[in-house]
Amino acid sequence: MNLFNVYPLFNINPVKAQGSFLWDDKGEKYLDFYGGHAVISIGHNHPHYQTQLKEQLDKISFYSNSVQNELQTELADKLGKLSGLENYNLFLCNSGAEANENALKLASFHNGKSKVLYFSGSFHGRTSAAVSVTDNPKIVAPVNYSERFIKSEWNDIEQLEAIFEAQGNDISSVIIEGIQGVGGIMIPTVEFLTKIKELCEKHNTVLILDEVQSGYGRSGYFFAYQEFGIEADIVTTAKGMGNGFPVGGVLIHPKFQASNGLLGTTFGGNHLACVAAIAVLDVMKNENLIENAQKMGEYIENEIKDFPHIKSIRRKGLMIGIELDRDCSEVRSNLLYNHHIFTGNSNDKAVLRILPALNIRKEETDLFIGALKTVLENL
Ligand SMILES: Cc1ncc(COP(=O)(O)O)c(C=O)c1O
Repeated sequence: MNLFNVYPLFNINPVKAQGSFLWDDKGEKYLDFYGGHAVISIGHNHPHYQTQLKEQLDKISFYSNSVQNELQTELADKLGKLSGLENYNLFLCNSGAEANENALKLASFHNGKSKVLYFSGSFHGRTSAAVSVTDNPKIVAPVNYSERFIKSEWNDIEQLEAIFEAQGNDISSVIIEGIQGVGGIMIPTVEFLTKIKELCEKHNTVLILDEVQSGYGRSGYFFAYQEFGIEADIVTTAKGMGNGFPVGGVLIHPKFQASNGLLGTTFGGNHLACVAAIAVLDVMKNENLIENAQKMGEYIENEIKDFPHIKSIRRKGLMIGIELDRDCSEVRSNLLYNHHIFTGNSNDKAVLRILPALNIRKEETDLFIGALKTVLENL
């Protein structure tokens, strides 16, 4: 059997990883400045993470959601404390798309409405409803398309108001990323988010914050939207939550009523996933990683801001978009093949996306800064 060929692959085969570095099968070392798509939050193979998972393997790896699982309770407790959302309830699942799928469904169960408002540039995952609110026609199959999903322009308050004026009574939820990642690190204005919140309250519409990429400390806040002082009805998370172990979560405001069977999953909240997610929170707290994300992000921006060919830098914490005066693909492959540094791109071809681990060290950022300087000066 062959693999279904959907991924354009670099010809690199990593076989070992530690902290912010990877080694391939030829022993070549690479600096990971992309965290495997914003997944590596506490660094590869963090010793605490490794020990906790290994110890759990000796105890129990899985049983279904029909029995008590104290690890789920511990995870919810620690997540509530570190995120400041202690009064929310947690539903555990396996990925970002699944978290959004459940959030959209829960909103619709809650208010009985069926339309969803989403924004240009959005990416919310590839499952049914999640891909319907993703702004990329290439990945929305006919089976996913419906006029119930309404697109509004990013940061455009006038259009938002007009849509609510016309259809507000039918809009079940608004889904928005705390910071758009795939869209090219697009930061919402405080006026935009505040207006969304106001319109949602007025029309009994659920506000869903997709923090799958911008959450878990990446922005220098636990969730990026928290900087803006608004309250979300539902927050979704995944990626950095398990540092590579597949785990997602839906954080649900106490006003939502749970009932037996309303949501469900086979694998969500399994013992290994919980241990991985608890280890991530422990490390984030004990090593002050949110503070480090703020500090290192600021340092990188200050060091690179005057480099040639950079048009603008869009950044919160360690979620960094470097907008070049051209397509970034040459710079990206130069960084990878000549300097052994992984970076990312985005739907905006000019934007180089930088998402290092939250415990990145200054000397590691200096490797990236030096390499980027060389590459940009030689364009
Ligand atoms: C903002 C956002 N939401 C949802 C997803 C989907 O997450 P997953 O790939 O875990 O389903 C992603 C993945 O890139 C994302 O960036």
